[in-house]
Amino acid sequence: MAEPKKLFIKTYGCQMNVYDSERMAEAMGAEGYVTTDTPDDADMVLLNTCHIREKASEKLYSDLGRLRPLKDARPDLKIGVAGCVAQAEGEEIQRRMPLVDIVVGPQAYHRLPALARNKGPQVDTDFPEEDKFDHLPQRKAMRGPTAFLTVQEGCDKFCAFCVVPYTRGAEVSRPVARILSEARDLISRGVREITLLGQNVNAYHGAAETGDWTLARLIRTLAEMDGLDRIRYTTSHPNDMDDDLIAAHGDVPQLMPYLHLPVQSGSDRILKAMNRKHTRDDYFRLVDRIRAARPDILLSSDFIVGFPGETDAEFEDTMDLVRRVGYGQSFSFKYSARPGTPAAEKPEIEAQVADARLQELQRLITAQQRAAQDAMVGREVGVLYEKPGRLPGQMVGKSDHLHAVHVTDPDAKVGELVRVRVTGAVTNSLSAIRIS
Ligand code: SAH
Ligand code: SF4
Ligand code: F3S
Repeated sequence: MAEPKKLFIKTYGCQMNVYDSERMAEAMGAEGYVTTDTPDDADMVLLNTCHIREKASEKLYSDLGRLRPLKDARPDLKIGVAGCVAQAEGEEIQRRMPLVDIVVGPQAYHRLPALARNKGPQVDTDFPEEDKFDHLPQRKAMRGPTAFLTVQEGCDKFCAFCVVPYTRGAEVSRPVARILSEARDLISRGVREITLLGQNVNAYHGAAETGDWTLARLIRTLAEMDGLDRIRYTTSHPNDMDDDLIAAHGDVPQLMPYLHLPVQSGSDRILKAMNRKHTRDDYFRLVDRIRAARPDILLSSDFIVGFPGETDAEFEDTMDLVRRVGYGQSFSFKYSARPGTPAAEKPEIEAQVADARLQELQRLITAQQRAAQDAMVGREVGVLYEKPGRLPGQMVGKSDHLHAVHVTDPDAKVGELVRVRVTGAVTNSLSAIRIS
């Protein structure tokens, strides 16, 4: 039998890209490719890119530059660029980096096998009529007990700073039946935790025979599937947290007590300029309702500092919001102008000011993260073992609240869901002892 060809994929950006990379690997699997973890012996290198911030695409170009010696040594090596930079820059990528054979956008990657078979430079950044998921192979054996499942793609929100509506296109929800069958398939392969994905996952309104479903209804239906112990979803928009979804946090035990609910800024004027379409008070009220449904929920958020025109007082409003909400974890970014977005037309604030604000916010976020971890000490939580730890007899998994947890449990297996008591907290993880 011929040696299988080797595919190396590097994934940048969000969880949707992680999911897409898995599906591209599966699609190339049908072409006789197996994945490898180094580009050195690969027959094909695929960079699945992110366009969200400036540095991400610069990083792509420097990574491509680093592949040049490999391509020079082995001209047969296929180099592909997928994802959001592929969508945004298209042919420009091959103009700047002629070593790139294939450019494929996030809505066209079911055509990757065909592009790879063709000779000469290939570019496909269509938003095709057909649904790519209908043209991809079934999910194959999973590596671990957790999986992502994309239920919704694209975004119609057009936040003034964001490229996603341009790179991923309009909001599309996958049909209910397809999602349920993919979930059943994953569960039959040992998956016990599914994270439902979408750029605006809670705007989900997929079609079923009984009319359009909401994310809450999807979650309630998944919760009835035997063998599925945990459900999460990301990323949600505050304006799409409907009553039933909030209620589900209180009455669906499989829905884990962690919610990523990005707010971006604590200033009403900046929120308006960002086109977020809600105020800081709306957000506070929403947080109160979610916490009333599920008091121990941990919240996380994304923040942008240094949006054009942001004043010291407006930044202080963000700090104040963070103090008032109290997050389990958060991600903060310095604003970067993205070509083609409305905010990119506006004058930027001084880089030093933005840097200082980012540092100040990150100090507060780190302190809150630490406090949230410390507050877990002594509590009983569930942990799903994902892999052996570095020490002998150790297992590592995620708690219900998405904390990484180390447990000494020599006879345990990956995929076991156990109860533990948290005994300690270090910088980025918890330690615990198993109690059942
Ligand atoms: N759909 C999600 C976010 C997708 S992008 C949502 O609505 O929240 C992930 C995060 O990147 C955003 O939440 C935002 O904080 C950050 N981001 C997006 N565009 C950015 C830009 N131009 N500059 C800096 N950060 C940005
Ligand atoms: Fe971007 Fe806003 Fe859409 Fe999130 S909601 S993907 S930040 S445009
Ligand atoms: Fe990046 Fe595209 Fe995701 S821009 S954050 S990879 S949707």
